Amino acid sequence: MRKILVTGASGQIGSELTTTLRNRYGAENVFATDKKPALNELPGPFYCLDVRDAPAISQIVEINNIDTIFHLAALLSAVAEQKPQQAWDVNMNGLINVLEVSRTHQCALFFPSSIAAFGAETPAMDTPQDTIQRPTTMYGISKVSGELLCDYYYRRFGVDARGLRYPGLISSKTLPGGGTTDYAVDIFYAAITSRHYDCFLRADTQLDMMYMPDAIDAAINLMTSDSTQLKHRNAFNVTAMSFTPQQLAAEIQKHIPEFTIAYSVDPLRQAIADSWPRHMNDSAARTEWGWQARFDLPAMVKDMLENVRSTK
Ligand code: NAD
Ligand code: SER
Repeated sequence: MRKILVTGASGQIGSELTTTLRNRYGAENVFATDKKPALNELPGPFYCLDVRDAPAISQIVEINNIDTIFHLAALLSAVAEQKPQQAWDVNMNGLINVLEVSRTHQCALFFPSSIAAFGAETPAMDTPQDTIQRPTTMYGISKVSGELLCDYYYRRFGVDARGLRYPGLISSKTLPGGGTTDYAVDIFYAAITSRHYDCFLRADTQLDMMYMPDAIDAAINLMTSDSTQLKHRNAFNVTAMSFTPQQLAAEIQKHIPEFTIAYSVDPLRQAIADSWPRHMNDSAARTEWGWQARFDLPAMVKDMLENVRSTK
């Protein structure tokens, strides 16, 4: 990776990934792009870019000699269910545009898939790497289609497209952009400011989760791993912890004993969560490129509370 382009760089992942990449590879070599203004801590080149604009992507890649693209621009699960046609347009046309530019300019490409690429018929516990995928949400349909498209561009055109199936991501720098797992971020702000949180998922909704530093490491480690060791290459299951809102609240109460949680279930997001796995098997990622998380639930909660407190 010498010259790197990040799409969706102002989002929850992009803002922190761009900062880490700028630290490691030099700020001048990491080109952040988004529809929204730049939010990255380390200054560096930024383009306002809609990923549906194929000629604009091509021009940025060409004039800056880009060799690696982290493609993060997308609509997330809850927003995608409210705007399914727009979600298909951004998630699929954006992806094929970056795959095409990767093909014509020999770029490596990172594409984040999600636990949403699975569906209710998928084994919910110890979810295998290779298993039935029949998602019922527009977001999930765009993710499984994206996984297949990345595999296709690798096999058909030799594009070095790699990717992960991220679980819900928890972070303190940039608020999440409209997903079903957002409760696991919102709860920390509520715990610090009002000592109470009304959760939009049921108390017993178990989902895979990961703290942002691990998510950033996973993306960079996969993209810099030895290509010859990758049997899957794309759509690796990765997880760091799996918990319910009730278990997360109990861990927060160890630090803030007066914290309380109540449940006002949102039927849309509950239905989405109920169609996702509870805990993925990520042994393929461990074996093929050495994936290992650093943060478990107690370590993540301690760090999140410290970080959220420091922003108040
Ligand atoms: P986010 O919503 O925080 O950020 C997405 C960014 O994309 C936003 O800054 C938005 O302005 C931008 N964007 C939207 N439409 C665009 C367009 N047409 N052109 C250019 N930019 C556009 O999302 P995130 O959490 O940072 O997620 C990034 C990627 O990771 C997405 O593909 C998402 O599906 C995937 N992912 C995220 C999670 C998670 O928990 N955050 C989990 C699994 C997968
Ligand atoms: N965190 C994401 C969402 O809830 C999962 O991809 O949409």
